[in-house]
Amino acid sequence: MSDPTDSTTLFAVELRGAVKRFGDLVAVDGVDLEIRPGELFGLLGPNGAGKTTTLNLIAGYLAPDAGEVRIQGVPPSKAEARSRLGLAPQEIALYEGLTARENLRFFASLYGLRGGELERNVDWALGVARLEDRAKEPVKRFSGGMKRRLNLACGLVHRPEILLADEPTAGVDPQSRAHIFETIRSLAADGTTVIYTTHYMEEASALCERIAILDHGRLLALGTEDELLKLSGERTRIDLELVGDGVEGDLLAGLKGLAGVVETGFGDGVLTLFVDPGVPVLAPAVELLNNSGLRVGGVDIARADLETVFLSLTGRALRDEG
Ligand SMILES: Nc1ncnc2c1ncn2[C@@H]1O[C@H](COP(=O)(O)OP(=O)(O)OP(=O)(O)O)[C@@H](O)[C@H]1O
Ligand SMILES: [Mg+2]
Repeated sequence: MSDPTDSTTLFAVELRGAVKRFGDLVAVDGVDLEIRPGELFGLLGPNGAGKTTTLNLIAGYLAPDAGEVRIQGVPPSKAEARSRLGLAPQEIALYEGLTARENLRFFASLYGLRGGELERNVDWALGVARLEDRAKEPVKRFSGGMKRRLNLACGLVHRPEILLADEPTAGVDPQSRAHIFETIRSLAADGTTVIYTTHYMEEASALCERIAILDHGRLLALGTEDELLKLSGERTRIDLELVGDGVEGDLLAGLKGLAGVVETGFGDGVLTLFVDPGVPVLAPAVELLNNSGLRVGGVDIARADLETVFLSLTGRALRDEG
């Protein structure tokens, strides 16, 4: 099909200045993306970052208010683009009263499959979901993990070239998560383009070749994990678990004023300091906290990770709400 060395090769998915507004809220704010055929691409961002809205623009469920979206060069509204796309939505979309097989048949027929091809694809998708033994049971009897696996399989049943997986591991047990990872990896190995959204930096790090960091509808950074880590320098991250109330702005400013501290962040009772390596920061920081009536219950010191990158870009933790 496409030769990756050919400079005219079309991107699997392309966004140019894509904007989506809901009233006054700009959910997607001028996003540019170029996703290559066969790439396993991560969209990482906290709640409300605009990940689902971005996928809905790509899937053609929403039209951009400005900018362009292209699937292999054509708008997602075109039938040829839609047949190349599969979406596993964040909100599980299954018919509870139907069996696993009936759900897969329904989605396969929506994508235009019929007859023997439909049955072969349904069998394949049941295998992907590891639900062969439960194919004849109504979905309402399934566990959360089984429903998640089937939800993913329904987005895959027509064997799309491009899979949009919206937080496909939300609420699942570790075994189902491992199985979903395995499925995503093997699809990508077979040449499927995958766009995978998550707010877990561990998932983006474990799975994705390139990662876009999204926040408040804006693309803050994009690259391989190594490239992103370089953005936060070679900084060390110190997490201080605080006992007592939150951290006031004055105190954050004071901490930021300490020699060696480059950035600070606070979320979930954890104060994070990004520090230049080799500068002794811990003792003066703890002293400052103690002087403000806060005690430190635990300390964790780590090298930079994607959470560090997010914090250094936004001053907020990924785990924060919004
Ligand atoms: N249909 C809608 N009407 C109004 N506002 C919306 C609608 N859909 C999304 N939003 C808003 O747009 C912003 C982006 O939402 P979106 O669902 O794309 O974020 P997300 O990154 O997928 O978040 P999450 O991790 O919670 O799924 C949020 O502020 C959300 O409240
Ligand atoms: Mg979402």
